[in-house]
Amino acid sequence: MSVALEPLGFPPYRELSNELLNERIIAAKRELGKKLLILGHHYQQDEVIQHADLNGDSYQLSKLAADSQDCRSIVFCGVHFMAETADILANRPEKLDARHGERVAVVLPDMAAGCSMADMAAIRQVESAWKQLGEVIDTNDLTPVTYINSAASLKGFCGRHGGIVCTSSNAKAVLDWSFAQRKRVFFFPDQHLGRNTSLKMGIGNNAMPVWNPHEPELGGNTLQAIQDSRVILWKGHCSVHQMFQAEHVHSFRKNHPGIKILVHPECPQEVNDIADISGSTSKIIDTVRKAPVGTKWAIGTELHLVNRLKKEHPEQEIHFLSPLVCMCATMYRIDLAHVCWSLENLVNDTIVNQIVVREDIAKWSLVALERMLTVS
Ligand code: 13P
Ligand code: SF4
Repeated sequence: MSVALEPLGFPPYRELSNELLNERIIAAKRELGKKLLILGHHYQQDEVIQHADLNGDSYQLSKLAADSQDCRSIVFCGVHFMAETADILANRPEKLDARHGERVAVVLPDMAAGCSMADMAAIRQVESAWKQLGEVIDTNDLTPVTYINSAASLKGFCGRHGGIVCTSSNAKAVLDWSFAQRKRVFFFPDQHLGRNTSLKMGIGNNAMPVWNPHEPELGGNTLQAIQDSRVILWKGHCSVHQMFQAEHVHSFRKNHPGIKILVHPECPQEVNDIADISGSTSKIIDTVRKAPVGTKWAIGTELHLVNRLKKEHPEQEIHFLSPLVCMCATMYRIDLAHVCWSLENLVNDTIVNQIVVREDIAKWSLVALERMLTVS
């Protein structure tokens, strides 16, 4: 198979109508049959998600990639770190052996579908932080935990240093595991998920200094703060969830008596603390599905998911928690044109936009991912 760069052959797809793109996607899927698996994250647009074979949150999508059997290519409708994780899990050594070395090609339809939070922690910054921490505390007492929303190199770092990966659905179980190994945690890149989860475990903000990678010394902290720490949080956040504010919660409670506030744990502490329920995208979906008719919700997560819930649950009253539009611009990069282009290339035995994690990084990332899959 040859590998083409994205611009090659793509531009004409932009001119096609959605109707035609849908027809061609369906035809390509039919042609590829069981050899193809399309995975879709809950934040994808409806027009894309309708073509996914399976949907899920980050944890479920990792499991689906890990457990995939017959497929020879996975088209990942999500963002870059998700496709990297799928590549590592679908092509781990025992899977490759079982397929006599044949690799599952993981395709990200648009290479610009990244994650701004993942970009807030670069491996050289994490390594430099670890080195500095090693000068003032014993890093044998410190478990590095990376949120799955991070580059594979950070997962590899965690694998090499006795650490682990977490997702929004298993962060508590992962932190329990981490504290069973060592007395402190270094949590990156999302300070909010790290803080919100640790607070629920009884760890106070006074034991959670925030490490700013742009500060020249100790991430901007005093020596005392690092020595007294239980969880060192990376100064990273999701630009979408950062938009939700406590005043939005107060306003909904005032104007819609009885309303329940349902948020993702990437929201800041002041929102998370006063919400009724906080959880992963799947927990948000399940909570709404199971609620009695007539329940009122204000939901703080990505716009496409909230709009889909509104459509699927007309029997409930669903509001978007922020007055501003909070959508994930990078998830939105995946559109029908890119999906169609990727699939038709696969039909023609050409892999476009393949995500392949470097072997040494994949090896150690797998260690950290397998620890996660074992504890949750
Ligand atoms: P979930 O794992 O809850 O689906 O979250 C992924 C994500 O990127 C949230 O911003
Ligand atoms: Fe990244 Fe936030 Fe988009 Fe999730 S919603 S993929 S954390 S930028």
